Amino acid sequence: MPVHVVDHPIAQDALAALRRSTTDAREFRRNAARLTTTLAVEATRTLRTRNAEVETPLGQASARLVHGEIVIVPILRAGLSMLDPLLSLLPSARVGYIGLQRDERTAVASSYYRKLPKQVADARVLLVDPMLATGGSAINALDLLKGVGATETALLCMVATAEGLSAVEAKHPRTAIYTAAVDPILNGQKFIVPGLGDFGDRLYGTD
Ligand code: PRP
Ligand code: URA
Repeated sequence: MPVHVVDHPIAQDALAALRRSTTDAREFRRNAARLTTTLAVEATRTLRTRNAEVETPLGQASARLVHGEIVIVPILRAGLSMLDPLLSLLPSARVGYIGLQRDERTAVASSYYRKLPKQVADARVLLVDPMLATGGSAINALDLLKGVGATETALLCMVATAEGLSAVEAKHPRTAIYTAAVDPILNGQKFIVPGLGDFGDRLYGTD
């Protein structure tokens, strides 16, 4: 599956605000929502639709309606910032949660929570997590989703690395990936450079 780098002007403007070290939590949240919306528009371009007729005040119009099951799965915590903007666009979607935490020393992600909808086999599953660093968290979550039967998955993130993208593509080649940026390197603590820092900490004011 190709990697889609979303270079829409609004996406890039929102990403700049997220990257800026002086952006406060309120602005950080607002721009996380702006960026998610632009990513979501790209990632949902291939959703199935069905034809319909709707009655306008002045007559009948042909229409296309979003068709088929959609499941949104944020990876806790940082992925939660992407849920509300996605639900605004896809109000009927079901939602699952996967809790993953990277070990501060090894950067290996381990799972601490999981609550997924039943019967995801026929659904379009949108896995959302703003940061794709080593790719370990995304691979862990995709393994889990495939394990419960998901067949059609897409990953939405804000900043990725080439290393993380290669790792995910190697394990899950059929997963479409949407990101606003591909940054060059990971530092010794496996943080993305230049990246935007610790997304969860900036979102929730923890550190
Ligand atoms: C961050 C981020 C991703 C993960 C990416 O989560 O939100 O889930 O790191 O890194 P990886 O690609 O190397 O796995 P973190 O574990 O810091 O948890 P948090 O969202 O609760 O802060
Ligand atoms: N998680 C983050 O929040 N930031 C990074 O740079 C890497 C992982």
